[in-house]
Amino acid sequence: MRTLAVSNYKGGVGKTTTAVNLAAIYAARGLRVLLIDLDPQASATDYFGLYDRASAAGKTSVQLLYEGAVVADVVWQTDNPNLSVVPSSIELTDQNELMLREQRLRFALDDCADDYDIAIIDCSPTMKRLAFNAYLAAADFGMVVVPVKLDSTVMRGTGLTVKAIQDIADALRMPVPDFRILRTCVPGRITNAERTGEAVLGRFFPDRQFAAVIHASSKVCEGSWQWKPVSVFEPGSRPSRDYLALADEIWEALR
Ligand SMILES: Nc1ncnc2c1ncn2[C@@H]1O[C@H](COP(=O)(O)OP(=O)(O)O)[C@@H](O)[C@H]1O
Ligand SMILES: [Mg+2]
Repeated sequence: MRTLAVSNYKGGVGKTTTAVNLAAIYAARGLRVLLIDLDPQASATDYFGLYDRASAAGKTSVQLLYEGAVVADVVWQTDNPNLSVVPSSIELTDQNELMLREQRLRFALDDCADDYDIAIIDCSPTMKRLAFNAYLAAADFGMVVVPVKLDSTVMRGTGLTVKAIQDIADALRMPVPDFRILRTCVPGRITNAERTGEAVLGRFFPDRQFAAVIHASSKVCEGSWQWKPVSVFEPGSRPSRDYLALADEIWEALR
């Protein structure tokens, strides 16, 4: 099984959009996909209409991380037989993160490695130890995808994210997971602001950017009102084609 962690300590940069689109694309290609929601805001969970049922049943990432559940205990089937989801709950914020062992998720995924081809983890922008768990889960056979919607405020969160990826791996003497910056919401017309942002990003992360970029399009938001990833809502649209290219690039890198 391969593992992708989608993370940035900055919010609103396209993490969930990226996680649900990649999950839909890989599932459509016949891979067995496990999408894990580690954000208490539970946006990825909402794409599958699972929030109320999963919280009521106590079958969420809370039980997986904090109550000793295994993936099989908390996984939900979706309309797509290839796509399974571990939903999230606002109750993640009630847990004491310091009680969470850093490798809890990694071990839980090891245990179900034969059941899935790829796990995709949608991270919270603020919950550090949950993110550590995701980075370590992606350390052996995976990578961390760091979406960046370019403006001056995104650099702080992105820098902190990359530092956290390196620090946690160093602290546990594990290989630093491969991480790559994904540009999202790229405007169709290149402006001066865009050029400035690109130059800054290139200076900080010269060899760490995906070739694929995701263009901005109102289709992304329009599809989200129907809880459809844009790759399902409007397969021919530009961001949909961008996500297909990204899925290829990631799969190629993980082979
Ligand atoms: N390529 C895109 N074009 C236009 N809007 C986008 C695009 N990607 C994401 N968005 C919008 O940006 C907002 C934040 O995206 P989201 O994936 O929820 O970010 P995060 O998970 O990082 O908080 C959402 O309203 C989403 O619809
Ligand atoms: Mg999100």
